[in-house]
Amino acid sequence: MIVCVCHRISDREIARHARAGMGFEDIQFELGVATQCGQCECAAREVVAQCCASRPVAAIQHNCAGGEGRAWTSQQSSQA
Ligand code: FES
Repeated sequence: MIVCVCHRISDREIARHARAGMGFEDIQFELGVATQCGQCECAAREVVAQCCASRPVAAIQHNCAGGEGRAWTSQQSSQA
């Protein structure tokens, strides 16, 4: 289902990013969801919240494995 009509972003796409460990603000920056008219913000936040509530440990493990989470990988790169 399309959540953000302005940017044609589906709930599945938002959920995929949330399961990869991204928070709402990261998803908003990455996909542009809720950055134009703003009508989709509540629905988009709901999708993210449902994903975070259902699989919080899996999201953290994905980040540690070198996924898309920027906050976890930026500090580990140039220490060697
Ligand atoms: S519907 Fe998402 S910004 Fe307009």
